[in-house]
Amino acid sequence: MTVSVQTDAAGGEALRPHAEHAFADELKALAAADDRPRPARWKLSPWAVSTYLLGGTLPDGTLITPKYVGPRRLVEVAVTTLATDRALLLLGVPGTAKTWVSEHLAAAVSGDSTLLVQGTAGTPEEAVRYGWNYAQLLAQGPSREALVPSPVMRAMAEGMTARVEELTRIPADVQDALITILSEKTLPVPELGQEVQAVRGFNLVATANDRDRGVNELSSALRRRFNTVVLPLPATPEAEVDIVSRRVAQIGRSLDLPPAPDGMTEIRRVVTVFRELRDGITTDGRTKLKSPSGTLSTAEAISVVTGGLALAAHFGDGVLRPGDVAAGIRGAVVRDPTADRVVWQEYVETVVRERDGWKDFYRACREAAE
Ligand SMILES: Nc1ncnc2c1ncn2[C@@H]1O[C@H](COP(=O)(O)OP(=O)(O)O)[C@@H](O)[C@H]1O
Ligand SMILES: [Mg+2]
Repeated sequence: MTVSVQTDAAGGEALRPHAEHAFADELKALAAADDRPRPARWKLSPWAVSTYLLGGTLPDGTLITPKYVGPRRLVEVAVTTLATDRALLLLGVPGTAKTWVSEHLAAAVSGDSTLLVQGTAGTPEEAVRYGWNYAQLLAQGPSREALVPSPVMRAMAEGMTARVEELTRIPADVQDALITILSEKTLPVPELGQEVQAVRGFNLVATANDRDRGVNELSSALRRRFNTVVLPLPATPEAEVDIVSRRVAQIGRSLDLPPAPDGMTEIRRVVTVFRELRDGITTDGRTKLKSPSGTLSTAEAISVVTGGLALAAHFGDGVLRPGDVAAGIRGAVVRDPTADRVVWQEYVETVVRERDGWKDFYRACREAAE
């Protein structure tokens, strides 16, 4: 039996193409313009990887779109770490682009973001080390052919970037398997009396959620193998509006939504509501607010606006209006049906209702609550 896997050719029609396909043109232009030294097996120099992430203009005028909007130094530290013998841990609250940055780093450094282990409470050791093809194992005994390498093992053998998502959700004994890999740069296979040694170019990017702290705390032995970079929430409302509008435009294009004129008013509104509730205080500093139970991350703001655009495109006149985002905002805020509903109602009646220019939005919130 052959299993059909997605090949490069499917990249164009994939619902969500990998970064290395979606931004193939930018990566190619960067590689062509890049005359700085590249670490072993890197597709680009650290400078070009940073430019890919942060955006810029190449000498020939090619525009590189920013993927990550945030402090430049932070990206430079992350990229440089991958060229050292320490692995990279991206830490932050949900929705701070940890997964997004990890994918783009792997795409730019190794040209492949798919050597990925998804961390859950049920992640087995085979996902980090290797498993066996049992039919072959029974027929022939342990052999190189019967061995099924994990994405980490493949990255080691080929000198590529491996990714581990949600590292702290992985059970402690499975996490421990990473210690040898990261400190000795080798993965023993005792069944074969062999080992797989990491070749130059191998490194690993892990992500972990700040809020998971205590779920499976990283052992200090493992933590020492990582350089930790904390991804912050956007520092200012303007930065957050910029992130949301860029990502919404990209996602809208991939969903074939027509570009929305004047969507900025509603994007600003969503960002304002999210930031005020997250911070527990209004922008003018005058009114203290209760914060809802969920994280109102930038990622959620992006999905509220994208959802609103789809409503406007399919059921409205294509212009994003308060009524298109009100229900989405409410849905993001009210996670816990009792406590959060009170938080939201208070916010609507004390802040939204009184604010200049927010009458339409107030009406839309009232309607969305019914
Ligand atoms: N600072 C930022 N710059 C660019 N995109 C961001 C930023 N913060 C959040 N995003 C967007 O939020 C979305 C979700 O991010 P994700 O990587 O899934 O978050 P995390 O893994 O930290 O929970 C992505 O589409 C990403 O583009
Ligand atoms: Mg993530």
